[in-house]
Amino acid sequence: MSITVSAPGKLMLLGEHAVVYGYPSLVTAVDQRLYVTIDKAQGMNDIIETPQVKNTSFVSETLSYFRNKYHKNDALSILTRCDFSPKLGFGSSSAVTVALLKALNLLYELNLTNDEIFHCGYEIVLKVQGTGSGFDIAAATFGKTVYYVRGGKTLEMINVPSLPLVVGYSGVKADTATLVRQVEKARDYNPEHIDSIFRAIEKLVISGRDALRNNDYKSFGSLMTENHSLLKRLNVSTPVLDNMVDGAVKAGAWGAKLSGAGGGDCMIALVSDTTRPAVEDAIRLTGGEIVTVTPNVSGVMIERT
Ligand code: PMV
Repeated sequence: MSITVSAPGKLMLLGEHAVVYGYPSLVTAVDQRLYVTIDKAQGMNDIIETPQVKNTSFVSETLSYFRNKYHKNDALSILTRCDFSPKLGFGSSSAVTVALLKALNLLYELNLTNDEIFHCGYEIVLKVQGTGSGFDIAAATFGKTVYYVRGGKTLEMINVPSLPLVVGYSGVKADTATLVRQVEKARDYNPEHIDSIFRAIEKLVISGRDALRNNDYKSFGSLMTENHSLLKRLNVSTPVLDNMVDGAVKAGAWGAKLSGAGGGDCMIALVSDTTRPAVEDAIRLTGGEIVTVTPNVSGVMIERT
């Protein structure tokens, strides 16, 4: 009997890069999901078809991690499908890791909690990438909107009724690992400078948490724009992302910023119903592609057993 589990993609609302160094961040899960279907395979070999997953090491590492830890060695059939393209940077690697762990948990009736799934997922990320805050694993596992500190040291769900975002894709695929290394080098070279930027980011993440709790979109928007300026000072933005962000703010968004490592992928803008059309037009005019998403959705879930 096959089992299908889905996990959501994610967007970083505030705090990228600083979160790698233990500062807090705000993360939301989006309604573009990755689906994993598993079953025991006939025969001796695994059958793995995961065309939408950019880095298949996440699938192989999740399987070997699980097999080593729980001594379950059946050959498996693993298939994925995905609502989003891996080019967007919505986190196909973290979503497949979490969805596969949950599906294996169900197949073998292990009763793992989502906390346990999160910690296994984060260990797998560190094995594959060597670094990372695990924010994407948190979004895939717990969903909703989370105030998050690296490794799940703090994981606080923020109760937001809605989060009216416009997402613009820059047309360029970013390489997260390269940008994380670039910031690391800059910090090795001038730690005071980079740490002062991180502390400024920390401050606005904490204010952002309060603004979200109070549904104060106006304040949250200006914190986003401020965060974008700090990311520019970290040298992780691009002219295309800057133009999209400036265009969105000029068109009336409460605020806008790049989301994720920078260097490409997506930017986000916070808008009212009234300003949404003008902001979307402005993003298109600066070369961006609008990606329609609903944020703040459920984390990993069972689709079919
Ligand atoms: O590029 P993305 O969407 O995977 O985001 C990376 C965010 C960083 O803070 C730069 C890295 C991390 O692991 O938190």
